[in-house]
This record gives sequence, C-alpha cells and structure tokens, in this order.
Amino acid sequence: MVEEGGRILRERRMRRLRGSEGIRALVRETSIHPSNLVAPIFVRDGIGIVEPVEAMPGVNRYSVDRLPEYLERLSESGVASVILFGVPGLKDERGSGAYDPAGLIPRALRKLKEHSPRTVAIADVCLCEYTSHGHCGLVQGGTIDNDATLPLLARAAVEYARAGADMVAPSAMMDRQVLAIRSALREASMDEKIVMGYSAKFASSFYGPFREAAGSRPAFGDRRSYQMDPPNANEALEEMAQDIEEGADIVMVKPALAYLDIISRARARFDAPIAAYNVSGEYSMVKAAAMNQWIDETAVAYEMLLGIKRAGANIIITYFAEQIAKWLNRER
Ligand code: PBG
Repeated sequence: MVEEGGRILRERRMRRLRGSEGIRALVRETSIHPSNLVAPIFVRDGIGIVEPVEAMPGVNRYSVDRLPEYLERLSESGVASVILFGVPGLKDERGSGAYDPAGLIPRALRKLKEHSPRTVAIADVCLCEYTSHGHCGLVQGGTIDNDATLPLLARAAVEYARAGADMVAPSAMMDRQVLAIRSALREASMDEKIVMGYSAKFASSFYGPFREAAGSRPAFGDRRSYQMDPPNANEALEEMAQDIEEGADIVMVKPALAYLDIISRARARFDAPIAAYNVSGEYSMVKAAAMNQWIDETAVAYEMLLGIKRAGANIIITYFAEQIAKWLNRER
C-alpha cells in the first residue's frame, strides 16, 4: 500500500493481468472443453430422413439410419455425449411408444452403440413425445396421475438401458421417478447404469421450440401441476436433494440461463455432478438475433455457456455443442 495525501492507494492494479493473451490465459478461471458438452438429438421414424426443425435453425430430426453421419461429425468435434429424444409418428393415450422394446429410442441406441460404441449415450425418459395428449404422464380424469406413471417410466428406462444407454434421464417431473427407475434397473441387473435426474425442471416458456421439434405441446392445459414454479429456488434445492437420495448420480437444472442462481447454490450444497440444460428457447433466441446480424452468434453462445459453467455446472446440454466444440478446437 502507498499513502498519497492521506489517502491509501492499493498497489494492486487489475489491468496488469489483462495485458496479453498469454497472461489472460494464465489467470483464466473458467474454461469449457468439448467433453463437457452434450448434444441433444431428435430421432424420427422413416428412412433416409434429415428434416430441419423450423424453429431451431441448424437442428434436424434424423431417421435412425442417418444417425451415424451426425455421430461421426460430433465425435470429430470432440463432443463425446449425446441425449436422444424420440419423435414418433404414432402417439397414443398411454405413450406406449416410450416403453416399446422395438420403439424408436431402443432402435436408435442399438444403432448408436454399433456405430460409435465410445459415445456416451443418454436417453431422455418421458412420455410427452409419445402421448396423444402431449402430457408427461398418464391422464386420469383430467389430471396427471403421478403414481400410475411411475411403472411406465421405469419400463422405458429399463428398455433404454437394455438397448445400450449408458445413462437414463427422467424428465417427466413425477415425484419419486428416480426411485422407481433406480429400483427397476437394480431388479433388471443393471445397477451400474447412470441416472441423471431432471431434478429442478421448471414450467418454462423457453421450451417452445422443443415442443415444435418433438411435437409434444400439451393438447389441453399446461405442465404447471408437475414442472416447477419459476419463482422457487429453495424448492429446487429440495428437488435435487430428494433425487440424490433416491439414487440419482447427476442432478440437472433446466432451463439454464434464467436459473443460474440455482446452479450456483446447488454447486455449493451438493457434491454430485451438476448438469444444466441450455434449452431450445435459449438457442433459438441467439439464432434469431444472429440471423438479423444483431449479435455475433458464436461469441454470444460461448459467453452464455461460460456463464453456465462459471455458475457451477459440470455438464452442459446444448444445441450449440458441435458448433462451440469446433470453435474451441480452432481457438487452441
Ligand atoms: C420433456 C422434455 C422437454 C424438454 C426436454 N425434455 C419439454 C417439456 O418439458 O415440454 C425441453 C428441452 C428444450 O426446450 O430444449 N420430455
């Protein structure tokens, strides 16, 4: 410290450590590696199909036979993990496509493991893409029946694990879904399979483009009786604590950007790995602004992912995975 005119000046000058890229890199506190990123993939029926999702420029729905070429590109970019969503042509009241052993996701998983066995295969476990009413659970008398849904989620998880999924990720927001899946996996002698709970999943308006991609918009009502109320942070931590107790290995916060406080509090409280889902609306907003030349797309996307990582997420699920991974590889 130096004194000047009775005032104490600190000797520390913050700009010293910003003078060159070498120094900046030396003191950089947060970094993103392609292996931290998970790419979502939409799988659809049919043969030879790569179908663009209108509300998500750059994102496609792939038929099972066209998956290998995309998996190839991803692994070249260094993205080693994918999460699969099924978009079936036929839907019914009970979402039976979700737990059909010959359904879309089991077929996609077998293709994936045959083609790129080292890719970490995560399967989303939910009914909404498979039900005619678009809700995440069974509808009985106009409401979503929690406990009647649990065995169906457990069946789906077991089928996906059997087909080669390394990890299952229940996203239906039914109470005790992790426990039901954990027990079913143990009974099927697959206790080694990882469960990633969509633990703190909010009833968010940021899911709009995904519902176009997956055709999973609810036909009546909304998801507010099972997904979380956006103002609640303490409740989100309680959801995560319960999922860990029920046997989740990884807990998730979703969406990411409007919920960074929850990621940061979860990081301070839990030792389990934390995943954050940078959801469809967060992706499409950046794309739309960039298409108008209002922002620099890759720079903005990277800065958003950095914020999510800095808040404390280990794993980021993002539609930008391939694009950012390629850009990170160029930077190095
Ligand atoms: C439900 C599910 C949803 C998303 C992931 N899993 C949609 C919903 O709850 O309506 C949203 C992901 C996104 O918006 O990118 N199976």
